[in-house]
Amino acid sequence: MGFGLTTTAYMFKATCELGGEWVVEGVVPYGDLSLSPSSAVLNYGQGVFEGMKAFRTSEGELLVFRPDENAKRCEEGAGRMSMPAVPRDLFRDAVLRTVSANAEYVPPVGMGSLYLRPLLIGTGAILGLGPAPSYTFLVYCSPVASYFKGGQLTPIDLTVEETYHRAAPGGSGSTKCIGNYSPVLKVQLEAKKRGFSDVMYLDAKENKYIEEVSSCNFFCVKGKTISTPSLQGTILPGITRKSICELAAARGFTVEERNVSIDEVMNADECFCTGTAVVVAPVGSVEYKGKTVKFCDGKVGPTSQAMYDELTGIQQGKLPDERGWNV
Ligand code: COI
Repeated sequence: MGFGLTTTAYMFKATCELGGEWVVEGVVPYGDLSLSPSSAVLNYGQGVFEGMKAFRTSEGELLVFRPDENAKRCEEGAGRMSMPAVPRDLFRDAVLRTVSANAEYVPPVGMGSLYLRPLLIGTGAILGLGPAPSYTFLVYCSPVASYFKGGQLTPIDLTVEETYHRAAPGGSGSTKCIGNYSPVLKVQLEAKKRGFSDVMYLDAKENKYIEEVSSCNFFCVKGKTISTPSLQGTILPGITRKSICELAAARGFTVEERNVSIDEVMNADECFCTGTAVVVAPVGSVEYKGKTVKFCDGKVGPTSQAMYDELTGIQQGKLPDERGWNV
């Protein structure tokens, strides 16, 4: 199992008229939606989504990782995209009910997770540019394993993009909105044709500082310092990113959230990417301006391994959840 879609039996659904209250339909059979061709999401991309995971422990318990963080980010995204926010209690309840209804699809411990996809979209019809008259909130899910080819912890090879940018200051780069993702496909597909796993983006102002990889945040390690691009509005505030910053600091690393230049990356001891889908992905190499730097001989670096072990240990209930992250 990789990161392909395996549909499950149920999804969660709620709807809302602009200016009204959310009406909960609850857990319903997974299936297609019926939408007007004029719906705002189809024409103007009015929508945000979340990515989260549920895990099965060796005792058979089901754990959802930091759902309240996703609820908060979804609320912020709704504000940026002029949509009614999903109340945090409704969001949390929707996620937990989706997991319970699809419990049989959560893979055995160590063999993957149930990926949850909350989706908030403007479904009402509209022609002139403006907020949709009505909205749908869904949570669907799919059992998944490794995001990148080769399996979890297989080092990935990245190329640095110099022509296209993922986001610009004042744009929507820090929102998990639908429209942020399709524009990366062109560059990603070309990079894959050249044998790379994915693409690393630089800032739109100076073309010098790391932003993020298409679907994940970026970290580099030098000695006992771990650095990651700071949240200045152009990169996604990843929940895995935030968790790794906390875990690394607790292990005695100095964690720096700041501008990280590509030159610094080319001289790092080790690099890795983080994301809900990606988990912790060690970077085997980075190509920039025709020069390729290999990290840790193309093998899994010690910091990537340690961060992966600790994060997944907590998520799967193998290590104590001292911070109360799991629900
Ligand atoms: C996630 O990591 O949950 C994401 O939403 C990234 C997506 C492109 C798979």
